Amino acid sequence: MKPARAAAATIGSSDKHAISSAVPAKPVTPAIQVSGLTKIFGLRQREGLDLLDAKTSRAEIQQRTGCVVGLENVNFSVRPGEILVVMGLSGSGKSTTLRCVNRLIDPTRGQVTVHGTDVTALSTKALRDFRRTGFGMVFQQFALFPHRTIVGNVEYGLEIQGMAPGLRRDKAMAAIEQVGLKGWAEARPSQLSGGMQQRAGLARALAADADILLMDEAFSALDPLIRRDMQGELVALQEKLKKTILFVTHDLDEAVALGGRIILMRDGRIVQEGRAIDFLLDPADDYVMRFVEHIDMFGIMTVEAAMMRTPCVMTADDPVAAMLARIDEGADEVVLSDQDGRYAGRLSAATIRAMRGTARVDVRGLATTDAILGSDTLGSALPRFSRDVRAVPVVDRSGKLLGQLTDTCIISAIAQQRRVGATRGAAGKL
Ligand SMILES: Nc1ncnc2c1ncn2[C@@H]1O[C@H](COP(=O)(O)OP(=O)(O)O)[C@@H](O)[C@H]1O
Ligand SMILES: [Mg+2]
Repeated sequence: MKPARAAAATIGSSDKHAISSAVPAKPVTPAIQVSGLTKIFGLRQREGLDLLDAKTSRAEIQQRTGCVVGLENVNFSVRPGEILVVMGLSGSGKSTTLRCVNRLIDPTRGQVTVHGTDVTALSTKALRDFRRTGFGMVFQQFALFPHRTIVGNVEYGLEIQGMAPGLRRDKAMAAIEQVGLKGWAEARPSQLSGGMQQRAGLARALAADADILLMDEAFSALDPLIRRDMQGELVALQEKLKKTILFVTHDLDEAVALGGRIILMRDGRIVQEGRAIDFLLDPADDYVMRFVEHIDMFGIMTVEAAMMRTPCVMTADDPVAAMLARIDEGADEVVLSDQDGRYAGRLSAATIRAMRGTARVDVRGLATTDAILGSDTLGSALPRFSRDVRAVPVVDRSGKLLGQLTDTCIISAIAQQRRVGATRGAAGKL
């Protein structure tokens, strides 16, 4: 498996680009940790496992034992509050992975821990409780009871947990509101469109208050436009509720839209793990390459990954003479930040020259609305550029100045992607 590589390190790894300092992450217990997960389907699993260990091919194992290798030594972890997308073609092992996490399927080998609890070691009863309270599940088939109302469906899980009617109704109604189905609580599933039914399915998963959602091709049956809406809403909901989501899809566009880390599976193994941009700029092999060939780089590369350090940052307290000196050295403009490093506006060379003879700049009227967020995509930043605007300040959500995005940065990003494609393409022809 190819390790994840930060996009920022891939593009513009030279010093002039590297601006955001890496803060060492605090160790957190993963919401989900999957280690050495192997699943062999069939009656002669032991034999199949031995053959697998002896590096026998999947086809041969199947031929000799009738066993299907569903998963082979799968390892990954999901941080609390993260959306992790499991992607791959049909039959690559996505659903099996998901089902091993809540032990709807017993792994043949390996371990799954959920918030530190070893799921693989739970007794049947403990497992049942755990599954009920630990996870919300959303599948492609909405699986709503046709004779129950929407609220009746949503509260079903709570009902079988034995929750008091008033309380469970409150929880169900809150979940219904969260997914935008307010007013439909008393409707029957048949009165709802496919998209709305899937919202109800999501509400049912949310009502259980589980902090992990397992979603298997949850949006795959929906029309493309509705599907896109649902993806957007899921991301918004996730930001609000901070659920941990393991999301299975065979669709790259969907994986990209969800915006999180992706693990790409093939034949029961993980072939690459990372963000969409890592797959694009540094594909592990030709399979990954083919998967991402048609991806729109501008839709996935962040401004922060492509930007560079702002050459000339000063504060409003710096003397005009010092600013003039920088302009005379060739700077196009001076970017101002406050004492806390927050972006405070910028002054063009002409503006600074016009202030020659004064001691301090007049910052009244300086706008900071021209900045873009580092987390924005390159695509969304493009409209900010014009013949006259060739650099845009980049800030984080707190307004801190991160760097600047220039037209040159954008061209470098495109060139880098082309180079990866060309190198791979040439290698493939040998
Ligand atoms: N119950 C089962 N019995 C036998 N083989 C299975 C079973 N479930 C899944 N498989 C096989 O395991 C592999 C992975 O399946 P699955 O996880 O469903 O793939 P995906 O969800 O990526 O389409 C496939 O080859 C599939 O045929
Ligand atoms: Mg599946």
